Amino acid sequence: MSIDLAVIGGTGLYKFPGLEDVERYASDTPYGHPSDAVVLGRVGGHRVAFLARHGEGHTIPPHRVNYRANLWALHDLGARRVIGVNAVGGIRDDMGPRVLAVPDQIIDYTYDRLTSFCDVAGAEVKHIDFSEPYSAGLRGDLLNAAARVGIAVIDGGCYGATQGPRLETRAEIARLRRDGCDLVGMTGMPEAALARELELDYACIALVANWAAGCGDEAEISLPEIFANLEAATQQVPKIVASLLAG
Ligand code: HPA
Repeated sequence: MSIDLAVIGGTGLYKFPGLEDVERYASDTPYGHPSDAVVLGRVGGHRVAFLARHGEGHTIPPHRVNYRANLWALHDLGARRVIGVNAVGGIRDDMGPRVLAVPDQIIDYTYDRLTSFCDVAGAEVKHIDFSEPYSAGLRGDLLNAAARVGIAVIDGGCYGATQGPRLETRAEIARLRRDGCDLVGMTGMPEAALARELELDYACIALVANWAAGCGDEAEISLPEIFANLEAATQQVPKIVASLLAG
C-alpha cells in the first residue's frame, strides 16, 4: 500500500482533522501493539496515515509508549515519510508558548526505554549514522510548506528528550540549557532513532506548550495553560501537512 505521509500525533492531537475516507488498521507487530489503530485516510487526495502516540484517549505515558511497534506498524503499512508532532517546553528565549519549531538536533536524556530494533535475540546489530537525527529533505519540505501558508515556524533547535512523565526541575532545565537544548519534550526519543533504523524519512514539528521550568516569569507551570497553548499551536498542523502534501 502506498502512503504519502504518516503523522504521529502527540499530546493534544488524537485525531487528524480533515482526514477523509478513513479506515482503521489495528495491527500487531513483532514488537507488540502500537499505541492505537493506525488511521488511514486522504487529505486532498493524498494518502495519509495517522497514529496517536499516547493512544486516542491519551492513556499511555511517554515512557510506556511502544515506539518500536508504532514505527514498525507505519513502515509495515507502507509509510516512508513520517512526521512526529511533539508538545514541548520552550527553553530558548524566542521559543515561548505557541511557537512552532522544526528542530534539527537531539540530546537524549531518557532511560529504560527500548531504543533499537536490534535488541531482540539474533537480530543483526545496526549502528546507524545519527549525526543529523532528522531527515534534511523532510525538514526542508515542512518549513517550505509552512511558509507557503504563512505559518511562522522556527527552523532548527536542539530537542532535549527527557523521561517524564513529570515535568523537569529548574536545575534540570538549567542543565539542559547549558548543554545546548532549546526545547524539552518527553517523546522525541527513541522515536527518531527507530525511524532511522527503519530508513524512514522522519522530521518533528515541535509545538511549544509552556516555558520550561524556570524559563518564563511564572513560578509554576500551569496545566490548563499548557492545554490552551497546545490547542492553539495544534490547529496549525493540519494546514502545514495539507500544504506539504500539495507541494
Ligand atoms: N517538559 C517536558 N515535556 C514537555 C514540556 C516540558 O516543560 N511541556 C510539554 N511537554
